[in-house]
Amino acid sequence: MTDWHEQLTVPRAPFIPSVVWVDDPATDGFIDVSRDDDEPRWHALVEADEPIITQVDDGATKPGETGQQPSSSCSQPSLVAAMLAALDVREGHRVLEIGAGTGWNAALLSDRAGEHGHVVSVEVDPAVADDARRALAAVGYAPVVVTGDGTKGYAADAPYDRVICTASVRTIPRPWIDQTQPGGVIVAPWGTDYGDDALTRLEVREDGSASGRCGANLAFMRVRHQRRDFLEPSADEVDAAESTQTAHSGRELFEMVTFARAAFTIGLRVPSCYLTVEDVTEDRRLIELHDVRSRSWARVTLVRGQDPWTVHQLGPRRLWNEVDAAYAWWQEAGNPTPDRYGLTVTPDGTHGVWIDAPDNERRWSLTF
Ligand SMILES: C[S@@+](CC[C@H](N)C(=O)[O-])C[C@H]1O[C@@H](n2cnc3c(N)ncnc32)[C@H](O)[C@@H]1O
Repeated sequence: MTDWHEQLTVPRAPFIPSVVWVDDPATDGFIDVSRDDDEPRWHALVEADEPIITQVDDGATKPGETGQQPSSSCSQPSLVAAMLAALDVREGHRVLEIGAGTGWNAALLSDRAGEHGHVVSVEVDPAVADDARRALAAVGYAPVVVTGDGTKGYAADAPYDRVICTASVRTIPRPWIDQTQPGGVIVAPWGTDYGDDALTRLEVREDGSASGRCGANLAFMRVRHQRRDFLEPSADEVDAAESTQTAHSGRELFEMVTFARAAFTIGLRVPSCYLTVEDVTEDRRLIELHDVRSRSWARVTLVRGQDPWTVHQLGPRRLWNEVDAAYAWWQEAGNPTPDRYGLTVTPDGTHGVWIDAPDNERRWSLTF
């Protein structure tokens, strides 16, 4: 197997802005690290096999302030390499990227597609797109960087041989399939609102469908138009919520929230259910489920040594019961791992999932 470093034929450092953002345990937010003020730390961040946050709160938060939500980043190098390996860009290919970010991946794609290829990278944030254009030009690459909503693709330069999205999606946008040649490949972090996404590689067919397999775990930020949202019930609402107990063990609850165990399957079986897990203290963990649309919410409060644990549920859906039933299904199905799943998107937009093969009896269509 090729070492992942060999996929990364363009250095990362020239694409990283002089101000980046890191976790701040004191506030649970993000604070800036500036190259001018702390060059060794900045270099350590650039060289680590970790994502680097390059913008927070869609640019509304400035250095010196505390950010709440990462909104642009330079992805983790080993994951960039895994996605490039799955995409398999060849000399002369026409490639569409969604999420230009720093421009580093657009440079890597340009390097692969070569002088006879054509790379377009779409970025929704105008300031981020400008920085990417500048960094690419400085290093000597000239892909087309378009400012816009990449979920619409970029019809002007279609058709493409390869499409890669470097932000995660819950649905595969129709324009990506329409703008890809039959036989072409789409690679994206794809998943549901419940837990992380899977590296998903689809091949586009003559009939306008796209189908392929899911694989490695990717934790990417969502494209702007498909962001997840959560509920924060008041203390009074929690007091008034239905309260029961769960007989599940700590190991079972761990499986229910872990991508490589049951979480990917649960997300595919329980529509519109956003999972959050918060360690409030070393001994107290909150597992919460949110459906903003129906205003349904559930919380399991785990306190070390105090099981069975309490479950609160409110709203028209009983989200915990739904998740519990999906977990039982996963066990009954033989604990399928994410890499056993595949996805087929038909011309009418139906997203069908299957285990092992498209004609397996364990297959169903997703509702959103
Ligand atoms: C993880 S970063 C991309 C990393 C990038 N490929 C690199 O090499 O640095 C995700 C990017 O997707 C952008 N984005 C989010 N939603 C988008 C959309 N609908 N269309 C285009 N770009 C989008 C974000 O602004 C962010 O810059």
